[in-house]
This record gives sequence, structure tokens and C-alpha cells, in this order.
Amino acid sequence: MNANFHKSTVYQIYPKSFRDTTGSGVGDLNGVTEKLDYIAGLGVDYIWLTPFFPSPQVDNGYDVADYCDVDPRFGTMADLERLIAEAGRRGIGLMLDMVFNHTSDEHIWFQKALQGEQKYLDYYLFRPGKGPGLPPNDWDNTVAPGSAWEYVPHLDLWYLHLYDKKQPDLNWDNPAVREELKNVIRFWMGKGIRGFRFDVLNQTSKAEGLPDDGENPGKNGKRFYTDGPHIHEYIQDLVRDTGLDKLVTVGEMASTSLAHCQRYSNPKNKELSMVFSFHHMKADYRENSKWKLMPFSMRYLKDTLTEWQLGMQEAGAWNAVFWCNHDQPRVVSRYGDDGKYWAESAKMLAMAKQLLRGTPYIYQGEELGMTNVKNYDDISDFNDTETLQNYDALIRAGSTPAEALEVMHQRSRDNARTPMQWNGGRNAGFSDGEHPWLKVNANYETINAARQVDDPDSILAFYRALVALRKEYDVISDGSFEPYLHEREDVFAYFRRLGGKTLLVVCNFYGAETEVPAPEAGAEYRLLLANYADTPADRFPARLRPYEAVAYWVE
Ligand code: NOJ
Repeated sequence: MNANFHKSTVYQIYPKSFRDTTGSGVGDLNGVTEKLDYIAGLGVDYIWLTPFFPSPQVDNGYDVADYCDVDPRFGTMADLERLIAEAGRRGIGLMLDMVFNHTSDEHIWFQKALQGEQKYLDYYLFRPGKGPGLPPNDWDNTVAPGSAWEYVPHLDLWYLHLYDKKQPDLNWDNPAVREELKNVIRFWMGKGIRGFRFDVLNQTSKAEGLPDDGENPGKNGKRFYTDGPHIHEYIQDLVRDTGLDKLVTVGEMASTSLAHCQRYSNPKNKELSMVFSFHHMKADYRENSKWKLMPFSMRYLKDTLTEWQLGMQEAGAWNAVFWCNHDQPRVVSRYGDDGKYWAESAKMLAMAKQLLRGTPYIYQGEELGMTNVKNYDDISDFNDTETLQNYDALIRAGSTPAEALEVMHQRSRDNARTPMQWNGGRNAGFSDGEHPWLKVNANYETINAARQVDDPDSILAFYRALVALRKEYDVISDGSFEPYLHEREDVFAYFRRLGGKTLLVVCNFYGAETEVPAPEAGAEYRLLLANYADTPADRFPARLRPYEAVAYWVE
């Protein structure tokens, strides 16, 4: 398997919010092409483009109506081909987002199923109910409180949708479905696509018989479709029959386990290059619920990151490392400080992540320190279906509108989806049109690319440096991970080691100064990178300042 991805960094683009070249208010593929020099300037090797396929946009493109075309609101196939070619000229490969657990209900396969065609009924999970008005089992959908089943009166059957009811689940146990999906991959490989991200891939194999989960209230069904019975076999089959192992692949693994991820990304198994897991992004979930607020727990964060770093390393497996994506509120507002120590904490978080063992992902705007929104004063300012459905659920459960709005200010996926902040001009330089599809974050005049692009002290410059270091030093791309000061609840620190070289990374996650012992008496310390200008070059500092982050060679 091609292991160049150990040195690579991936830049994630949510095209809808990246750059609108037509004035429609919606970002487009030509907008990505227009900004390729900016992206190349970061030094990244791949762009992961979230879905731009024809879609009713109920879930912003994660409801795909045609896997092999471009939605006209994002451009044309010719635009995409130009983007692939122009990115290629800059040494950047495109990774596409394959949403294979479900389609849109407007996909032709589902439409034919609704017409009663047996072949296509078997593409999905249609079942008779348990009785009048009773779904086939007790599984909940994962978007908002409620069943995972939708009744179709004229068929007198129910269909399974782990997500919105407009996102019916595909039946992966049907070999014809898997063959269709292989053809999608072959189609895009033929266009010169260099990699794929697979949406909620570990939910595709469901337990035989789709059993009730009565004894597990609140989680209904999850254990029957997470890392399911045939999942490894199905992934291996997909890879073998398409030659996917020559590309870079990453699986999004929801609520997964370390044991399964060790298998998914171990090169010997010929499954995937790497995996996304999400446990470390739940450090601020109270009672494990996204909708219950809590300041983040450093203990939980460190324990989780460390367990996964060590566990994947032991198994020869590979993490995709990340803080941000289009589903996560902005990390600087969660695990950093988007006020007084905005720049320091954004850089600290950058270092803490980018020097880990694994392939780092940077989500658009993260490299500028983009923050959560504060200027969405009414629920009507939000767009995301998950946000709107859970806002209603909170109100139904007794929250006041102000309380429910505060939850969304911290937890809505729209925090990540606000338009990219290019400059201090109209619509932050995102669109020349009247109305961006989602309101621009009010802080665009201070946080934007134009202000950072030529500033050697900017967050953007810091990201560039980190991306370059991974390319330069094998100890960063391939060294071992070893925790340091694991018992401490204010700093996150680790060693990376390879062939006699040792790098020490220490990150202060709080706004207070703290003492940190130098790990080896008698050793010499040589500074590689720090987020304060005057960090000593040749000795380990005894104290770290607020959100200070340092990387030293230990010699
Ligand atoms: C994960 C995607 O990242 C998210 O945006 C989407 O809503 C679900 N999968 C369903 O496709």
C-alpha cells in the first residue's frame, strides 16, 4: 500500500461555504479552483471535497441523488475536470466523499423501489411493520429523537433510515448494491481522483434480522449496525475489486472501537489507509450527549487521544488526526480560547494535533482560527437539519428558547459551515451576491485570510510551518508516540522518536502559566517551533505561558 500519506496533510473543503463565483450565495467548484494557490500555499497534498453531487440538499449533499454527476448549483463536470487538472498541476490530489451508507430518497434506485420494483426494493431495507402503525424494530435514527423507520402506505412497508427520512439506508448485504458502489468508485478513478473519504462506512453492515434493542434504551439499535458482522469483508471486497489500495482512503467510523479501527487501517488487511474516530471530540459532552453542555474535560481528552495514539501504533494502524470538520463546532471555541488568547490557543491546538502520529486534516478556516458563531440571534439563522430538529426537541423537553439557542451556539454543525472568511469586504469575500446561503460570522473583519496571508506571525503561517515540518522530518511522519506528563491535567505532552532522534511536544491547554519539568536532565534542547516569539532556542523553559506550545529536539 502507498504510504506517502504519512507525510501528507489533507485540506477539507465544504464547497458550499468556500467561495461563490456566480453570486448565487452558494459556493461552487470554480470557487475552489480560484483558491488553489492559497491552498497550495499551505503545502497540503490532498483536498477532501465534501459532496457536490446532485442532491436535494436536505443534509447539504450527504443525501446523494446521483453519485456520478455534479449538481448544477456547484458547477459542471467540465468545472470539476478543470479543478482536478489544476489541482494536479500544483501537486494536489482530490479526494471525493462517498456517501455509501444511504442515498437520497430522490435517487433513481429509491424512486424505482417506491414504484414497487423488486430489484430496487432489495437495494434498501424495506420491512413489514410489527403491526398497524408499528415499525419493524425499535431503532432510533441518529439525527434527532425518533424512529429510524418510515412507513410507505402504498407499499405497506417501512424503510430504514439511520439519518433523515430522506436518506434511506442501502442494503449492503445485497451484492448488486455493492457492485453498483464499485462502479461509482471506478467512474471517479477514471476521472483522475486520487482518494476517497467514506461517509459513516462502519454503519453499512447491519446485524442479520435487524433485531430489537429493547434492553439498551437511548442507544436503540447502535450496537446492531456499528462495525457490523460483515464490515471488514465488505470493505476488503470493495478495495480488491476496484484497486482502491493504490489511492488514499479514509473511513469515517462513527461510535467505533479501537479494536475495529486497528483492523480497518492495518495495511495487512487491505482495507483503508486510515480512519476517523470521534471519541476525542466528545470531551465537552455531558453524560455523553452532544446536546448537554459542559466545559471540556482535559482528563478525558488526554486519555482518549493517548489511548488511540498508542493503540493504533501497537497495531501498525493509522489515524486520521483532526480537530475540525463540517460536523464539528470550531475547536478554538471548544478546547481553546476564542477571546483573549485566540491566536495563541489556535496555534497551540495546531501544534498539538499536527505533530501527532497520523495524517493531519485541516478543515477550511481552521488555519485562520475561525471561531463559532455568536451573531445567530434566532434559530431561523441556522440551516442544518440536525440543529433544527434538536432545537425543537430541546424546546419540547422544556428548555427555554434562549437556553436551546445557547446549546446551538456551542454545538450546531453550522458553526463549521459559515462562509469562509477571505477578507474584510462584502460577505467576507465569500460571495459577491446579495445573500450567502448561511450568515457570515460577525468577526470576519478581524479573522480573515487577507490579514494573515503575508504575516509571518499569523495562525496561517504557523499551520504552513507545521505542514512543512512533517514533510521534512521522518520522526514526525513515522516516529513513535510516547506520552509525557500524562497525569497532568493542564498540559498535553508527548515524545516522537525515530532512529535515535527525539522530538518533545508540550502544549499548555489553559490561560494560566504553568511549570513543566524538562524530561531528561543533562540533555540538550533545541527549539524546533513555538507559538510565542521569544521561546528560548537552546534550553527547555521551566514555565509555559498561557496556551504556550513548544516543540524541542532532545539531544
Ligand atoms: C457524516 C457526515 O459527515 C455528516 O455531515 C452527515 O450528516 C452524515 N454522515 C450522514 O451522511
